[in-house]
Amino acid sequence: MAARTIIVINSKGGSGKTTLACNIAAHYAIEGKKVALVDFDRQKSAIDWLQDRPEDRPEIMPIDGTKRAATVPRGMDYVIMDAPAASHGKQLEDLLSRARTAIIPVIPSTIDLNAAERFLEEVLDAGRVLKNKVRIATVANRVRENSPGRWEIEEYLDSLKLPDGRKMPYVAMLRNTQNYVNAAERGLSIFEIAPSRAEYDLELWRPLIRWLNSKHSLPA
Ligand SMILES: Nc1ncnc2c1ncn2[C@@H]1O[C@H](COP(=O)(O)OP(=O)(O)OP(=O)(O)O)[C@@H](O)[C@H]1O
Ligand SMILES: [Mg+2]
Repeated sequence: MAARTIIVINSKGGSGKTTLACNIAAHYAIEGKKVALVDFDRQKSAIDWLQDRPEDRPEIMPIDGTKRAATVPRGMDYVIMDAPAASHGKQLEDLLSRARTAIIPVIPSTIDLNAAERFLEEVLDAGRVLKNKVRIATVANRVRENSPGRWEIEEYLDSLKLPDGRKMPYVAMLRNTQNYVNAAERGLSIFEIAPSRAEYDLELWRPLIRWLNSKHSLPA
């Protein structure tokens, strides 16, 4: 069985790519799956996170995707990829060709929504997406639930269409919380901190995991 490949991508810096990639990787590692986390960013934030990860936690294999010779060993169940900011053009096509599923985190601010709009246009125009070789979904990240920005981003992400006219899956809304920051500082995920603190966030993650585990996130 080929590994399940998932890339987290958005050209906009700070939208939560590394946070989502690390948390998705941890989720599957906790389930007992063999997981590799490929960091395509020269800043190596995902690899840094893994270096802080306590040894007694479910193992995630770090892979430096910026190295030309980087390869993922055989036998992995999941290969989660963290894309760098400012991925456009050929680099974007190249990154999209490495995964069968792409998650696009978007944060609520007018500037970010405008940037997201341009990026999504580019993604929708990518050969792999047009040929249905990669399934994409959006996730709203760092949402303040009682702010007007919440409705703006939800309405926007909900309105997006795929090249074939179907709705682009908008699969989860994650809130803005220090829980991610505190967990990341210790090399942990939201799934590994006190459940009493993270209970609500775990609930918000459920539809994203459900989508990733469904056939809807895999090309036919
Ligand atoms: N839901 C959230 N709530 C609070 N803070 C968050 C959340 N998601 C991400 N952050 C924080 O926001 C900052 C940017 O997130 P992250 O590094 O994941 O974005 P990125 O898209 O990988 O950025 P870059 O483009 O620079 O690689 C980090 O400090 C991270 O801890
Ligand atoms: Mg990053």
